[in-house]
Amino acid sequence: MAVLTRRALLKTAAFAGASGLGLAAIGRIGGRAASAPEPMVLRTAKIQANLMDVGQTRDVLTYGNAGMPPVIRMKKGEPFGARLVNAIDDPTTIHWHGIRLPNKMDGVPFLVQPYVYTGDHFDYAFTPPDAGTFWYHPHCNTLEQMGHGLTGVIVVENPNDPKFDAEFVLNLRDWRLGDDAQFIDQFRPRDAARTGTYGTVRTANWLDQPQYDAPAGGLVRLRVAITDVTRIYAFRVDGAEADVIALDGNPVPRRFAPDALLIGPGQRLELAVRMPDNEGALVTLRDVRGTKPKALATLRAVGASLKRDSRDLAPLEANPVAEVDLTTAQHISLSLSATAENVPSDSICGSLGYSFWAINKVPWPGDTPDPTAPLAELKLGKSYIVDMENLTPQSHPMHLHGMSFKVLSSSTRPVQPLISDTYLIQPNEKVSLGFVADNPGDWLLHCHIIEHQKSGMTSYVRVV
Ligand code: C2O
Ligand code: CU
Repeated sequence: MAVLTRRALLKTAAFAGASGLGLAAIGRIGGRAASAPEPMVLRTAKIQANLMDVGQTRDVLTYGNAGMPPVIRMKKGEPFGARLVNAIDDPTTIHWHGIRLPNKMDGVPFLVQPYVYTGDHFDYAFTPPDAGTFWYHPHCNTLEQMGHGLTGVIVVENPNDPKFDAEFVLNLRDWRLGDDAQFIDQFRPRDAARTGTYGTVRTANWLDQPQYDAPAGGLVRLRVAITDVTRIYAFRVDGAEADVIALDGNPVPRRFAPDALLIGPGQRLELAVRMPDNEGALVTLRDVRGTKPKALATLRAVGASLKRDSRDLAPLEANPVAEVDLTTAQHISLSLSATAENVPSDSICGSLGYSFWAINKVPWPGDTPDPTAPLAELKLGKSYIVDMENLTPQSHPMHLHGMSFKVLSSSTRPVQPLISDTYLIQPNEKVSLGFVADNPGDWLLHCHIIEHQKSGMTSYVRVV
C-alpha cells in the first residue's frame, strides 16, 4: 500500500511547480490560471468630492473611497481579476472599454451578463492581449452613473515599451453642477437630440487645471482618456515638442503633432512630450475646440536638463490584432441617422424616455431582455468591412466592443491606417472600417455620446 509521506508530497509539489503542464492543470481545477493574482476589489460608492471652490459636491459616484476611480494597471498577456462589489443604490456592471476579452466579461447587461444589484458582486477575469491606454465604466444607467463619476482609466503595460523619464495619466471629464456645486439635470432633451448636453465644470483627474512636475529635457509619456459623456476635444500642446504616439490603445503608424486633433468621448490619446530644458518652463495641454477653449493640465520642467532627444524614442510595439483580409472581406452597410419614431422601453438600466437616433433606421429601445435583432451575424474568423455613413449634422464617436478595427478609408479626408475601437465620424462622412471577426459573442456597437447611445444610436453584431 502506498503511503504518502510528507517527503513524497513535497516531491510531487516540486514536480508540479517545475513543470508548466503541472501548473496549468492545477490552475484549471480552480477555474483560474494558477498565476492569477488576487482580484482587486472595485466597490462602487457614493461620496462627497471637491469639484468646485464653493463647496463639496454630494452624490458623487466612484470606485473605492478615495476620490477619483483608481488608475488600474494591468500587464499585457498576464491574467487580471477584479471583483465588482455594488454598494450603491442602483444596479451596475463594468465594461472594460477597448480591451479584447471574452464576451462574458464585457459587462453589457442582458446581452452578456446579469445586472449586479445593490449588495451583490461579480468577478471579472481576463488577460488583456493588447498594451495601451484603455478605460472602464458601467454599462447600466450609464448617463447617470458615468455622469456622476464612475469612469476610470486603465493602463496596460508592455515590458518592451521604450523608456520614458516620467509618465502621467489624465482622466478628462466634465460635471453638470449648479452654482452651489450640486448636480443639476444630467441632460436636456433638445441637446440630446443634437450634440449632447455639456457639463458645466471641466476637470482633469477631478481637478481644475492640475500641474505636474516633470524632469527638464526629459521625455514624458502623457496618457489621456476622454471619459466624458458628451464632450469632443481638439488637442494642442503649447510650450514643448509633442508627438501623438498612440490612439485608442494602439500605436500610430506615423507620429504627428496634435494640431487641434479631434478626439471624442471614449477615445484615448498618448503623447510623447519632450520637456523644455529650462527649469520652471511650462507645457500646456489645451482643448482648442469651439467657443470656450481651455487649458486642461500643465507640466512644469524641474531639475537640470536630461537633454533627451525624442528621435531616440523607439516605436511602440504593435498589438497582436489580426490583419483584415481585404480580398475576401464581406461589406456591411451601416447608416447613422436621426429618427422621429419613439420606441424607448422602460429599463432597469435607465431610459431617457426618448428616441432621437437610429442605426440602419432602427432606434435601439434600451437595455431590455428582448433587444432588436443583431445588425449582422458574422462568421468566426472571417473578415468584414463596415461601410459607415453619417447622415446627421453631428459627429459621433462610434465604439465597437470586443474587436479592434482598422481605419481603411474616409470619403472626406486622408486617414492613417489606425487600429482602434472607436471612430469619430464627422457629419456627411463615409468611412470604411475593416476587422476580423475573431471573438465569438454579441458585441455592442454604439455612439459614445451617452445621450445618443441611450436614445437610439446602439446596435450589436453577433459573431458565431
Ligand atoms: Cu465605453 Cu459600450 O462602451
Ligand atoms: Cu452620437
